[in-house]
Amino acid sequence: MNILVTRKLPSSVLDKLRAVADVDVYTGEAAIPPGELRARVADKVALVSLLTDAIDRGVIDAAPSLRIIANVAVGFNNVDVPYASSRGIVVTNTPDVLTESVADFTWALILAITRRLAEGERLVRRGEWKGWALDLLLGTELRGKQLGLVGVGRIGRAVAARAPAFGMRVAYTARRELDGLGEAMSLDRLLLTSDIVSLHVPLTPETTHLIDKRALTRMKRSAYLVNTARGPVVDEDALAWALQQHLIAGAALDVYEHEPAVHPDLLKLENVLLVPHLGSGTTETRTAMADLAVENVLAVLAGRPPITPVGRP
Ligand code: GLV
Repeated sequence: MNILVTRKLPSSVLDKLRAVADVDVYTGEAAIPPGELRARVADKVALVSLLTDAIDRGVIDAAPSLRIIANVAVGFNNVDVPYASSRGIVVTNTPDVLTESVADFTWALILAITRRLAEGERLVRRGEWKGWALDLLLGTELRGKQLGLVGVGRIGRAVAARAPAFGMRVAYTARRELDGLGEAMSLDRLLLTSDIVSLHVPLTPETTHLIDKRALTRMKRSAYLVNTARGPVVDEDALAWALQQHLIAGAALDVYEHEPAVHPDLLKLENVLLVPHLGSGTTETRTAMADLAVENVLAVLAGRPPITPVGRP
């Protein structure tokens, strides 16, 4: 049996696959080029993919023996799940194991943007810091403010659970109230009333450009937007415009519309924090994600049900 792994994984995790099959690992620094992916997947029964790989019809059609696509990510917008399912291929993701680390990271972004950490760091590195001053790079307090969560799945709830520690009340987009979580409201009302708007929805046709010009103009001028979900949920042209016009106070982005490219206008702005898709990026969590993907492969190849399937073959 042959398995393709599109990026280096921790060796302890790869060894589990090597115990049952021949494993072909793409060892390039960046994502496997699409042509090479199609060529190397051709004789494989399992594919361990990363969120940077587009697993489209072309890839799926190139692999007649494929039984499972195990995506090392909770998001699976990079995989054509309906098509894979129609071909009888199992698709799995890696939920739960990254929930707490992404929630911690969301708070790191909220604190960093409201307390102007990156601006301060740039000032120090440029050698321009003249010393302590009462009014130097003043930020904004979180206590007593409203955290608006767009999406309250596992990650959104874990972000909400940390809000009391910072004295924030929680609002979220849902049709009805969820136990002990805060106040459910429409997206419109959430945008109008929140001091921090944090995105936790999957990327789907419905959530693409959910945060567009119209949505941004609804936000308070003093509010901040935080995106640890998927880049295309935000219209970056509109966001750059809103930040330039000071229609919102700032934004913190972990994900981008055309990763790893960043909108050139965003790169010029001080009031936006830009980090390179690090949400789940701890050694512990990334190892757990790789391990869960591999356990899904082992289960399916052994004829057992997958652990964390998405869609239905
Ligand atoms: C990361 O972005 C993931 O979806 O796991």
